[in-house]
Amino acid sequence: MQTHEIRERFTNHFVETGHTPVPSASLILDDPTLLFVNAGMVPFKPYFLGDQTPDFKNGTATSIQKCVRTLDIEEVGITTRHNTFFQMAGNFSFGQYFKEGAITHAWTLLTGAVEDGGYGLDPERLWVTVYLDDDEAASIWRDKIGVPEERIQRMGMEDNFWSMGIPGPCGPCSEIYYDRGPEYGKEGGPIADDNRYMEIWNLVFMESVRGEGDKKGNFEIVGELPQKNIDTGLGIERVACLLQGVDNVYETDLLRPVIDAAVELTGAKYDDGNQDNDVRFRVIADHARTGMMIILDGVTPSNEGRGYILRRLLRRIIRSARLLGATAPVMETFMNTIMDTMTPSFPEIADNRERILRVAVAEERAFSKTLESGTTRFDEAANAIKSSGAAVLPGEQAFELHDTYGFPIDLTVEMAREAGLDVDMDAFNAAMQEQRDRAKADNKAKKHRNLDESLYREWVDNNPTEFVGYDQLSHDGTVIGLVRDGEKVGEVSQGDEVEVILDVTPMYAEAGGQMADRGRILMGDTILNVNDVQRVGKKLWLHKATVQNGGLDLGSTVTTEVDGAWRHGARQAHSATHLIHAAIRQVLGPTAVQAGSLNKPGYLRFDFNYTDALSDAQLEEIATITNQAVDADFAVNTIETSLDKAKAMGAMALFGENYGDTVRVVEIGGPFSIELCGGTHVDHASQIGPVAVLGESSVGSGARRIEAYSGMDSFKFLSKEAALASGLAAELKAPTEELPDRIAQLTERLRAAEKEIENLHRQQLLASTADLAGQAETVGEHRLVAKQLPEGINTGDLRTIVSDLRGKMQAEDALIVLTSTVGGKVSLAVAATKPAVESGIKAGDVVKVLGEYVEGKGGGKPDLAQGSGANPEGIPAGLHAVRDWLEQR
Ligand code: ALA
Repeated sequence: MQTHEIRERFTNHFVETGHTPVPSASLILDDPTLLFVNAGMVPFKPYFLGDQTPDFKNGTATSIQKCVRTLDIEEVGITTRHNTFFQMAGNFSFGQYFKEGAITHAWTLLTGAVEDGGYGLDPERLWVTVYLDDDEAASIWRDKIGVPEERIQRMGMEDNFWSMGIPGPCGPCSEIYYDRGPEYGKEGGPIADDNRYMEIWNLVFMESVRGEGDKKGNFEIVGELPQKNIDTGLGIERVACLLQGVDNVYETDLLRPVIDAAVELTGAKYDDGNQDNDVRFRVIADHARTGMMIILDGVTPSNEGRGYILRRLLRRIIRSARLLGATAPVMETFMNTIMDTMTPSFPEIADNRERILRVAVAEERAFSKTLESGTTRFDEAANAIKSSGAAVLPGEQAFELHDTYGFPIDLTVEMAREAGLDVDMDAFNAAMQEQRDRAKADNKAKKHRNLDESLYREWVDNNPTEFVGYDQLSHDGTVIGLVRDGEKVGEVSQGDEVEVILDVTPMYAEAGGQMADRGRILMGDTILNVNDVQRVGKKLWLHKATVQNGGLDLGSTVTTEVDGAWRHGARQAHSATHLIHAAIRQVLGPTAVQAGSLNKPGYLRFDFNYTDALSDAQLEEIATITNQAVDADFAVNTIETSLDKAKAMGAMALFGENYGDTVRVVEIGGPFSIELCGGTHVDHASQIGPVAVLGESSVGSGARRIEAYSGMDSFKFLSKEAALASGLAAELKAPTEELPDRIAQLTERLRAAEKEIENLHRQQLLASTADLAGQAETVGEHRLVAKQLPEGINTGDLRTIVSDLRGKMQAEDALIVLTSTVGGKVSLAVAATKPAVESGIKAGDVVKVLGEYVEGKGGGKPDLAQGSGANPEGIPAGLHAVRDWLEQR
């Protein structure tokens, strides 16, 4: 059974039983605690917590969620069931059916006959686990379903109590395992061997809330959820592995074609007994898919966060391929193969193929360069070690290769082996450990954010802030929370730095790239200056403020005022950002996908995925389209609707949107620009004022940035530029439009003048040395000019002079030797006339004679040679030696 059919059967089974089908959310959701969505329930978290009421018919839903887990990346390919990307199929009940319903639904689908839409698994091979004291679940399995007692096992917190690893919803769970048979391991059920007994489905009885702690069950239950819920997760890849009769999750219909492509590309064999190679093939298949799916959702390679994970995955593919023997680029083939296998399940891949390829291939190119420089570094180190007679590459050097050049250790080991060296693995591991400890310390510092969240939890859960700032800039509200120095307090007074929580606020909290509003909170004489507003969760607004005068208590009624000028600027910049985004897509095509943005009064920047630098003409076109939209005075409409409707309107849905939510669509000029956005915007495009595009630049691999001014700041920028231009025009006494030509002419004239000066200088030199021929002395049969000229004549000029003298003395058997010093160094040139050369004198020999005295070197032809030297003191003696030398010819 093909994977997409396994998916379809799952959805059908639950739709038939009244569940609302919900499409997968993006891998990237707006949750600071998660890099990637890592479980099917993540998008439903607010429903479990009771923060939001789901509007699913029957209060039940089903989804197949894209998930990424990269914590155990080193396990990939070694075990039979670790995929960094996987599809978690789940059914969810929010206060509806509970344990019995969940267990029955799961059993029916797993064991139902294939012709009836089930998976047709043999019930005799299914084992289940329940949480230690969950007698209720155990008896449902035994009495209602008929699973024999000996195939129901009990496990503790670590295995059978599920949470997201952080404070939040949790509950005991019951897992279903499939016995793959004695060839996969020992008997005794999942407790004895989790390889032979493969976990396929986890049913979580979500009823509690946990506090701080770790993933492994070391945490306390701090409360009960408002209702009992069901959250389940079936691993589509694992079911595919069973139903397709393959050994591991890397050989299913989705991934095997990548392995086959790798066999063809590298020439190595899969499954021929070489364990290391098998792992490499599986790493390629797994990572190609995860990398592709992450790029699909908008990530580009970088050195931190999600971008770093992507970079790591792509680099592991390349290096695995090299270790398997690939010598040419591989990425295009792997990406095309995985896109082919995944498109039936994820049709949106089809529209993004070109972009995905571009990002992945650019990273391959960048890494190849790194590999080259790393290889040079490795060769240097290896040669030094070998010539010192040693045979071990020190761990520190292996670490440097890893840390600075991105060399994975197995690559270093492999290269070392080829060079006949061992790697000091103990020292390498020690260096790695040290780095991990440092990272841990850093992470601890970052945990701060989680702590913060627990401080605000009570408010998040109970007293959401109502935001009224789309159409009001001033509003009354009640103080429902005060925080000073990280602690809740009952009152604040003059001079305090505080966070104020209000039940209603007109102030915009930073989101979607738009900076927070500035403004004031007022009550009688009390004035608080608000300099930042942040959102915790979806509904809690934190006003970060300084108490300038007076004080506030919990319960005070205050008036909150947005700084109108600030807001005006922010609206202009945010709407301008949408126009630029639309213009970019018109000019560069739909693969230029937004990667991030920032806008604040007067300024914006917009990052997007695109590998090539933009030409001046493209930039000009983007600026023109943007300002034409302003000029056309497009109307700006905001519409609240469902995500599906928004997509149908053509809204660009990028990161972090969650289905089920009502979304806000901002439309400028109808089809010109339609985006999902919660920001504040102008009412008409002309209110944006001029948009001055400053330029574009690169921001990491595969991404570009455009910066621009909006409103009055554009005007200021443009008028400053204009003033500069007219200043230049006045200075050059030319109209501004002639400036480029004028400046080009000026530069040209300057260059000509410099040449002229050089010529004059040379002529002057020649004139001053004209009488040198007259000063020639007779040495034996020859004539000799051997002189040290004044300081400052370089070798080139000396050559000119000796050549000139040689011309003047061409009838004689003459040798001309001239030296000077430039910057403490000796310059020298030697010429011999034709008769001198015929009598056996070579200019090059003279350079050598002289060179001995001036610590010099040089050379040339018999009639003309030149050189330089380090010791000016040696010139007189050198010239003497030349005379003696000549005398003997
Ligand atoms: N949320 C549960 C899991 O991820 C189903 O295993």
